[in-house]
Amino acid sequence: MQCPRCQQGSPRPDAQFCPRCGAPVKRVEESGPLAASYADLRRDLTEVVEQQTTSSYAKRYERDRFGHPWGRLYRAAEERAIRRALRELPAGGRVLDVACGTGRITALLLRAGFAEVAGTDVSSAMMDEAKRQLPHVEFFQGDATGLRVPADSYDLVICVGLLMHLDPGARVAALRELARISRGPVVVQYGCVGTLHRFTSWVTGKPWGALYPVVQSQLREELRRSGLRERSRFWALRPVSSSLILSLTK
Ligand SMILES: C[S@@+](CC[C@H](N)C(=O)[O-])C[C@H]1O[C@@H](n2cnc3c(N)ncnc32)[C@H](O)[C@@H]1O
Repeated sequence: MQCPRCQQGSPRPDAQFCPRCGAPVKRVEESGPLAASYADLRRDLTEVVEQQTTSSYAKRYERDRFGHPWGRLYRAAEERAIRRALRELPAGGRVLDVACGTGRITALLLRAGFAEVAGTDVSSAMMDEAKRQLPHVEFFQGDATGLRVPADSYDLVICVGLLMHLDPGARVAALRELARISRGPVVVQYGCVGTLHRFTSWVTGKPWGALYPVVQSQLREELRRSGLRERSRFWALRPVSSSLILSLTK
């Protein structure tokens, strides 16, 4: 099978993206043992999020994701990269944490000296957990691809842990939305794969961590389409992890 985008990569039949250009691979299997999981991937994002984020999922989220040795190491590296990106920015003004989940990054922003912080997420179950941990912070429900917030409402907008789960179209829509509501910088996390990841994916047929990772050229193209420019970048745990924190400007 040839990649429909670059026409050069040859994704294995069970691969989720092209090992050469990183484009998501269109599924051809409509029946057989893998059909159910492919159907899951195609299901509407909001439906999936609603299903996944029961209150018990939200309560377990941080422990399941970061409660083991690799999770702790990864979390420390990721949060260090975020703090380095934030250190370059003025610490005043209004900040919005988009896809805030249980408020992990919201809390990091407060610790970093940003006093006026709010959070938004599509899942009320995740935000209930955030409200429990940060009762003095404002949280409101919202979809990152269409937030009901006036343009230029915030001095800084941050979005961690979301973009790599969105298909390219939704990702650009979310980036444009982040740019629209920020009158200052935008800090985001991307899942950006390099040679090691592509090789591993080619061998295993599985994506590396992110559902919709990108390669550098796709990342540049998506930023261009979103009207955003890269100021600086901070890798969390390169080359093992594909996590990249980007500080962007309009
Ligand atoms: C992996 S968690 C990241 C949470 C938090 N930012 C962190 O880093 O710990 C992803 C979050 O994105 C939220 N989410 C998924 N789709 C979204 C969308 N379209 N708009 C806003 N939030 C979304 C989920 O509910 C979930 O809380």
